[in-house]
Amino acid sequence: MDISPFVFRSDTLKLLDQRKLPNKVTWIRCRDAKKVYWSIQHMVVRGAPAIGVAGGYGLYLGVRSYQGDRKAFLRRLEEQAKYLKSARPTGVNLRNVIDEIVARVKAVRHGTVKDLKARLLHEAKRFHKEDIELCRSIGRHGSRLFRSGDHVLTHCNAGGLATTGYGTALGVLYACKERGKKLTVYADETRPLLQGARLTAWELVRMGLKCRLLCDNAAASLMQAGTIDGIVVGADRIASNGDTANKIGTYNLALLAKAHGIPFYIAAPSTTFDFSIRSGKQIPIENRHATEVTMGMGRQIAPKGVGVINPAFDVTPHSLISAFITEKGVLRRPFQKSFSTLRKK
Ligand code: MRU
Repeated sequence: MDISPFVFRSDTLKLLDQRKLPNKVTWIRCRDAKKVYWSIQHMVVRGAPAIGVAGGYGLYLGVRSYQGDRKAFLRRLEEQAKYLKSARPTGVNLRNVIDEIVARVKAVRHGTVKDLKARLLHEAKRFHKEDIELCRSIGRHGSRLFRSGDHVLTHCNAGGLATTGYGTALGVLYACKERGKKLTVYADETRPLLQGARLTAWELVRMGLKCRLLCDNAAASLMQAGTIDGIVVGADRIASNGDTANKIGTYNLALLAKAHGIPFYIAAPSTTFDFSIRSGKQIPIENRHATEVTMGMGRQIAPKGVGVINPAFDVTPHSLISAFITEKGVLRRPFQKSFSTLRKK
């Protein structure tokens, strides 16, 4: 059974509140762009592909009741697009999805405002549907990289909850299971917000995969002991040269993988690639609130007034990445050449 964090019905986007998992399954209803923006910023919905799809619906909700002429409608559309894209800066799917929807709406040359709204909703739904298909293809290609009996490490949550169902990195592991390959999955708990402990472990247990949760700082000793056969994680933005932003701590794992001769894979759809930038140096890194670090398990865990640094993502240099698992196949070095298959529409 797929896990999906969305339902869109009757002009309402229902989002599974991922802040409350695994203890409570509750939903938040969004009827306007402001609520979608808030939900992205507060991580009710999170994970780059899921944020992109939520942004598409948010754009529709931001203009659906607008009554004006075509020119004013398009102006409003641009304003709402700019607003929604600013909700979280690192994941590029939000920008990619919104920019593409705006371009397709503008391409309707002779339609009324009603036609433009209908086209917008159609495009938002198309991205929703397409994301699941992309994840399934990623799973199919990636499952060839692992053998039954392998022990695979992952970080953060790149599963059904981070997409519109199935997942990217976890999609690969689900596809292995569907093909009868028995894996043991090691899930980093992923401080500070524990996406690994709260979300990945929840998904894996529900999907019937053998899962072991570990503290982030246990990864090195597991690799040293020869326990880990491969690492697969998702991505928030991939630059033209292959440098990849993903949840903070991913770079640590890539360095460890190199030191221990373990393959390190990034699983991501083409919507996570940013061919407008040359390298990871140009990726904006989101810094989040200090309380995410000073509070833990609902209580203060550090002295009040302590200085905090809380970058939500890091950039793994392409030289540490063995391959990218995409919907178009497994892309290997030289990346700039193999990425050309993603640029072709
Ligand atoms: O801060 P989050 O929870 O949105 O970060 C999510 C990640 O870093 C995921 O690994 C990434 O978005 C890939 S999701 C398929």
